[in-house]
Amino acid sequence: TAPVITIDGPSGSGKGTLSRLVAERLGWHWLDSGALYRLVALAALRRGMALDDVAAVAELARNLDVRFEVDGQGAPVIVLDGAPVGGELRTEQAGNAASRVAALQPVRDALLDRQRAFRQAPGLVADGRDMGTVVFSDAPLKVFLTASCEERARRRYKQLKEQGLSANLHALSEELAERDRRDAERSVAPLKPADDAVVLDSTHLDIESVLEQVLRLAEE
Ligand code: CDP
Repeated sequence: TAPVITIDGPSGSGKGTLSRLVAERLGWHWLDSGALYRLVALAALRRGMALDDVAAVAELARNLDVRFEVDGQGAPVIVLDGAPVGGELRTEQAGNAASRVAALQPVRDALLDRQRAFRQAPGLVADGRDMGTVVFSDAPLKVFLTASCEERARRRYKQLKEQGLSANLHALSEELAERDRRDAERSVAPLKPADDAVVLDSTHLDIESVLEQVLRLAEE
């Protein structure tokens, strides 16, 4: 089987950017598992499903019609139900809905095989919450990326602004704290580092130095 590097951590820790850069530098595949939960949530909302209708949402997750493609410029494009999903996937509404459907074990189970199918030669960088603890528990390199709550809210704010989306720093910070609580306290796949994970705190580090650290670890 192909090697995997797992990068887990809370919202806004920078794991999305980091994992994409690591994948790019190594020439490996990239799995954005959070996008899968966001897609399930989005598909459920579009169908007018209640997000706590476990059986219906799990069924939807199992049969989700989604393709991960790249456009002419090499930028990733996600196609849901035959149409490209744009900024809708990155909104806080989708993020919050994702965190709700992600708390349902049958939904997590339904996405397992789909996530593991990304493990292909020459290798995979997997970004999420439970990549190192559940989905790729045999990964040789596991990174757990953290940062202070304030710093993570600031980064998320900047990111949303750059995407031309509206954002309020105070509201973001509160939502982030709430989502952290829900992700850490849920009985199903709670957010925590794997026992054999390397924990990196990026509060005072820019993305370049974290990237170099991870690439060094990958060489070992
Ligand atoms: O980037 P951000 O952390 O805001 O969101 P994300 O990584 O796209 O994940 C959205 C939500 O999906 C998180 O709040 C988690 O509750 C859930 N998630 C999960 O449970 N397991 C994963 N492997 C990835 C995401």
